[in-house]
Amino acid sequence: MLPKRRRARARSPGAAAACSTPSSVLFPDVAIYLAEPRMGRSRRSFLTRLALSKGFRVLDVYSSEVTHVVMEQTSAEEAVCWQEQEATLHPGCPCPALLDITWFTESMAAGQPVPVEGRHRLEVPEPRKRPPNPVAPAPAPAAAVMPAYACQRSTPLMHHNSSLSEALETLAEAAGFEGSEGRLLSFRRAASVLKALPWPVTELSQLQGLPHFGEHSTSVIQELLERGVCEEVERVRCSERYRTMKVRRRVGPGRATAHMGMRQGTLTQLWGQRRSLQDDKCQVETNAEALQQLVEATVRQALPGATVTLTGGFRRGKPQGHDVDFLITHPEEGREAGLLPSVLRQLQSQDLVLYHQHQRSRLGDPSRLAQQSHTMDAFERSLCILRLPLPSKGADPESQPAWKAVRVDLVVTPWSQFPFALLGWTGSQLFERELRRFSRKEKGLCLNSHGLFDPEQRTCFHVASEEDIFRHLGLTYLPPEQRNA
Ligand code: UTP
Ligand code: MN
Repeated sequence: MLPKRRRARARSPGAAAACSTPSSVLFPDVAIYLAEPRMGRSRRSFLTRLALSKGFRVLDVYSSEVTHVVMEQTSAEEAVCWQEQEATLHPGCPCPALLDITWFTESMAAGQPVPVEGRHRLEVPEPRKRPPNPVAPAPAPAAAVMPAYACQRSTPLMHHNSSLSEALETLAEAAGFEGSEGRLLSFRRAASVLKALPWPVTELSQLQGLPHFGEHSTSVIQELLERGVCEEVERVRCSERYRTMKVRRRVGPGRATAHMGMRQGTLTQLWGQRRSLQDDKCQVETNAEALQQLVEATVRQALPGATVTLTGGFRRGKPQGHDVDFLITHPEEGREAGLLPSVLRQLQSQDLVLYHQHQRSRLGDPSRLAQQSHTMDAFERSLCILRLPLPSKGADPESQPAWKAVRVDLVVTPWSQFPFALLGWTGSQLFERELRRFSRKEKGLCLNSHGLFDPEQRTCFHVASEEDIFRHLGLTYLPPEQRNA
């Protein structure tokens, strides 16, 4: 929340600025929408002001009223792809003309809308012809339809290039172990592009023009395509250092726990002591649902009306994960205060808590919320290891454990910040990073798990859902299962 004085000035841009109308509309039949895939925020507002000064109507939000969509530095394929996405979001909207910026500049120069000619149109010239052999379809031109930020494209959990993306992710992980953040990001971004491709990469030429493919990532893929293995990746996978670091990461504190000041030894010891944790991966499999029921029942008992939402990798459809993340809130802002300790007490009284560490809320200083980084939010939370009772299966109950220890993150958010927390905690980690980078670089806005802030206007956006946040950022909404970047 912002201080009162600022809150009064805070605005909801979607509602307030749905349409920019000139003082006198000279061309009522024309409604321009400046589409942003390649048009930066400041360029867009400059063009909007220019058009307004000439008596044109410019719509800030895409709707059925739009008659002319204007794009800049956008290929026809990309434009059509954009329109297809919009059509799914706005069913029933007529398809307005997709125009290159030349129509706009000529119209501005003429002081009136110039007639649309073929050369202005962004259209795929001919329907794509099917290749003669249906067994080996030619892949679509990748670069044209692959936006640079992971938050601008769908990334499903299952995709066509797992062995290639896993190789790059191994190198990313190894770079991370060495503290080389730049290399980690380059490999991870390239891997993420492969995950978003709708077809398998079989030839190096298919990488041409794809974003984030530098020399190193390209040569790794080349080696994999030509020889089936990449020497560097194999070397890393077999190295003592990589293997040790991986095990340490698995049993030690993760990102979430590290900054809570948990000592490495504490968790390692805890995990080691638990017979039921000695499975190979220390991963929670399909128990997320059972766990949700347990947490939900406890939370509801402690505070009727409170809600529990499963987030993190499980919300994205992952079948397993290193922990289970839950967000807890209550529709009456403020009622969530004090809830977590009482939930923990109830769980403890049922002997379900093996370990827990509580972090107090640091929401008290609203002016600092805009500065919270992506892995450090100010919510009250509890990192726990819970004892999850397992249903007994076979005839011999002795042969199987009666419970399983599960790492659980319980995070409490005020209702008004819930959509931001949900978006921030759903991940993936790269998706979040890209979303925040996109907000900052392309929109000049600061996004974190508490809100979306405009540092220039010193305002924050009020939202009711994740969809609202995507809309404010001019992004097509992506459901959680498409955020596996
Ligand atoms: P996780 O680390 O739990 O990852 O964080 P995950 O995607 O669920 O994968 P698993 O658990 O390893 O299978 C989930 C999301 O929550 C954010 C992370 O950035 C990630 O996007 N997160 C995590 C925070 O915002 N703050 C934290 O303190 C921890
Ligand atoms: Mn998780």
